[in-house]
Amino acid sequence: MKQYVLIAALLPLLACSTAKTNPNIAEPTTSNSCQTPSTLKVAGECKGIMMGNVLRQQQIANVEHVTLLAEEFNYLTPENATKWMHLQPERGVFDYGKADEIVNFAQKNKIKVKGHCLVWHSQLPQWVDDITDPDELKTVMETHIAQVMGHFKGRMYAWDVVNEAIKTDTDVGDGNPRMRKTVFQRLLGDEYIDMAFKMARKQDPDVKLYYNDYSIDADNDKADYLYEMLKGMVQRGVPIDGVGFQMHIGTPNNVATGAEVAKNMQRIADLGLEIIISEMDINLCGGRNEAWQQALYHDITLACAEQPACSAITFWGLNDGSSWLNSWEGAGCKTEKPMPLLFDNKYQKKQTYEEVINALTGREL
Ligand code: G3I
Repeated sequence: MKQYVLIAALLPLLACSTAKTNPNIAEPTTSNSCQTPSTLKVAGECKGIMMGNVLRQQQIANVEHVTLLAEEFNYLTPENATKWMHLQPERGVFDYGKADEIVNFAQKNKIKVKGHCLVWHSQLPQWVDDITDPDELKTVMETHIAQVMGHFKGRMYAWDVVNEAIKTDTDVGDGNPRMRKTVFQRLLGDEYIDMAFKMARKQDPDVKLYYNDYSIDADNDKADYLYEMLKGMVQRGVPIDGVGFQMHIGTPNNVATGAEVAKNMQRIADLGLEIIISEMDINLCGGRNEAWQQALYHDITLACAEQPACSAITFWGLNDGSSWLNSWEGAGCKTEKPMPLLFDNKYQKKQTYEEVINALTGREL
C-alpha cells in the first residue's frame, strides 16, 4: 500500500482521486490504469474494490466464458456448488468435487473466493429440514460448518455464514419485517444466527464472515430491521465482518436508488462493519428500459466507490445468456428478456459495463 501511495503521489494526474486503503487489493498493474482502466478489476483496484462474478462448475469447460471471467474479475462466488445440498447431500456424506474445481480455477487465476453459503433455508437437503430436535440440529450445523470450512481453509477469502434470514410480507422489503421461520429459527430461535457466526469464527480466525440478504439496500422495512439486527450483533460481540447487499434489482425485488444504497451503507459502516455488493443484477422485466438500467448500474457502483467500507461488487452472472433470471418465472418477464448483466449473449461489453467503469473512474453518466 505504501508503494501505491508513493506512486500516486508521484503521478497525481494519473492516479485515482479517491483511492481507498484496502490491504487485500493488489496494486494496479500500470500507472495510468486508474484513468483508463482496461478491465473492471483494474478499475476496482483503483478504488479498493474487488470486482466479482459467479461460476458454475459446468462453465469451466467454456473457454470463452472463463477467459473473460479471469480477465475482468478478481473475486468469485460459486453460484451453487458450495451450498449445503451440494456439499452434504446426505448426512455425513460430503462431496467437494464441483466446488474444488471452481476453487482450483480461481486459485490458478489469482482470484479470491467467497464461499456461499453455510446456513440457508433454501437448497438445503430434506434430511436437515426433517430434524425436530434442537440439540441434534445444533450439532448438525456445527459439523457442517466445521467440515466445510476445514476443507476449504486457506483457500477461501470469505464466507456467507447466514443467508436470507429476514422476511417481510413483500419481496420488495416492506411489511412486517421478522425472522424467517426456517428449521434453524424454529428449533434454535433467533440466536441461531449468532451461533453460526461463532461456530464459523472458531474454525478460522482470518476468513471474512458475512451476513447476506436481498432487498436490504433501499429505504424499506427490511433494511431497517437488518440494521437493528446488526447493531445487536455488534453490541453482543458476535464475530461478523460485514454484510452482503445482494442487489437483485427489479421485479420482484426492490429498486434501490444510489442515494438509498449510500444511506444504508453509511449506517452499517458506522457500526464498524464492511459492506459488499454480493449478487448484483438489474433486470429489464416488467417493461423497464435500458437507460433506467444503465443509470442504476452507474449510481449504485458509485455509492460503493464513495464508501470506504464498501470492499467488493459481485455481479450474479457473466453474460445475459447465463443469468439465473432466464429460467426463473418469478422475475416477471413475459415476452421480453431480463438482460440484467454487463456482457451480452455473445460476451460483448454492454453500456452497463461502461457505466460501471464510469462510476469507478469518476466520469459522469
Ligand atoms: O443443474 C440442473 C440441471 O441439470 C437441470 O436440468 C435443471 C432443471 O431445472 O436444473 C439445474 O439446476 C438448477 C441450478 O440453479 C443450476 O442452474 C436448479 O434447478 C435451480 O434451482 C438453481 O437455481 C439457483 C438458485 O439460486 C436456487 O435457489 C440459481 O442457479 C442461483 O443463481 C440462485 O442464486 C441465489 C443465491 O444463491 C442467493 N440469493 C438469490 C440468488 C438468486 O436466486
